[in-house]
Amino acid sequence: STYRVASIPGDGIGVDVQREACKVLDTAAQRFGFGLEWTEFDWSCERYAETGAMMPADGIATLRSFDAVLLGAIGFPGVPDHVSLWGLLIPVRRAFEQYVNLRPVRLLPGTASALAGRGADELEMVIVRENSEGEYSEVGGRHNAGRPGEFVLQESVFTRVGVERVVRYAFELARTRQRRVCSATKSNGIIHTMPFWDEIFAEVAAEYPDVEAEQMHIDALAARMVQRPDLLDVVVGSNLFGDILSDLAAAITGGLGMAPSGNLNPEGQFPSMFEAVHGSAPDIAGQGIANPVAQILAAAMMLDQLGEKAAGEAVRGAVQSVLAASEVLTPDLGGGATTAELGSAVAESL
Ligand code: NAI
Ligand code: MG
Repeated sequence: STYRVASIPGDGIGVDVQREACKVLDTAAQRFGFGLEWTEFDWSCERYAETGAMMPADGIATLRSFDAVLLGAIGFPGVPDHVSLWGLLIPVRRAFEQYVNLRPVRLLPGTASALAGRGADELEMVIVRENSEGEYSEVGGRHNAGRPGEFVLQESVFTRVGVERVVRYAFELARTRQRRVCSATKSNGIIHTMPFWDEIFAEVAAEYPDVEAEQMHIDALAARMVQRPDLLDVVVGSNLFGDILSDLAAAITGGLGMAPSGNLNPEGQFPSMFEAVHGSAPDIAGQGIANPVAQILAAAMMLDQLGEKAAGEAVRGAVQSVLAASEVLTPDLGGGATTAELGSAVAESL
């Protein structure tokens, strides 16, 4: 079959890493005998600077007919980050009910990790981040602007349906893995939303007696992730907590250049969107030295979701063997290769 994929390279290194991910995917398609039909969209901060909008008014409707979306990264100096995020990423996640942000973490060979010396089997976990509500909310506002007593209010929105579905996803996923779920909470300090989250977590956990359920305050959980990551398998957290934990998890396994993510609509009613965890990295943009591995692994997750699991596995295997050989590594991994050289090495290995 042929899949129709919307490609949004975006800004900064998003453009560089997207090119390599497409290169690897086209190779995978050839080798595994399926078709990929790409349609590229120039939605970006550059577009915003020219037109005043990150994407056209019918952007969401345009994406709806695709089988999946592959996104580079969004955001660039000159356009405030909340404008770029709320102008593209968050509307897509919400319109397509991509309520799970899945961020698998794995210690790969040849990476300069804080955990160097440990085996890959000691660090293989997955962060399940709530992706449609929670702390990333528009509710709130500024009061007494410019006057004494100025203050802002920022509300969080946690719905029963929203919490339950992401927690349930985590338990279902745990059944395919080590049957352990750890929930990130902070119900000692955040007294309305987090006890509600805990309550629903306990209700869902009761339906999965075969899965070990644990909850930890986010601060202690962050410490555990650094010191004893081997005790964690599936970690479920709210939008904010999941966001922070996944960058932390990426950092201990070799850096942001290695961490993929999928914004999933698990029911498959709408397209899912795949992207690296990292952003557009303006500090290294235009130098051709960004690590494309995270984006290539995100593309592999996209293949899994499209039903091409063997191809997804093969892409991960190709990344693994190129890193293990440690001949072609980008500067963040201690090498001197360019983005394109690392991407080509993965495609060739495939
Ligand atoms: P960032 O992830 O872009 O960069 C953080 C640090 O990691 C930088 O030093 C960067 O050079 C390094 N880094 C990131 N990816 C790398 C790669 N593939 N290879 C080598 N080094 C890499 O985060 P930052 O600086 O907070 O954000 C920059 C822009 O990206 C902002 O406009 C932000 O809003 C946006 N952003 C967009 C995201 C998205 O599109 N989903 C996610 C996170 C940030
Ligand atoms: Mg983040």
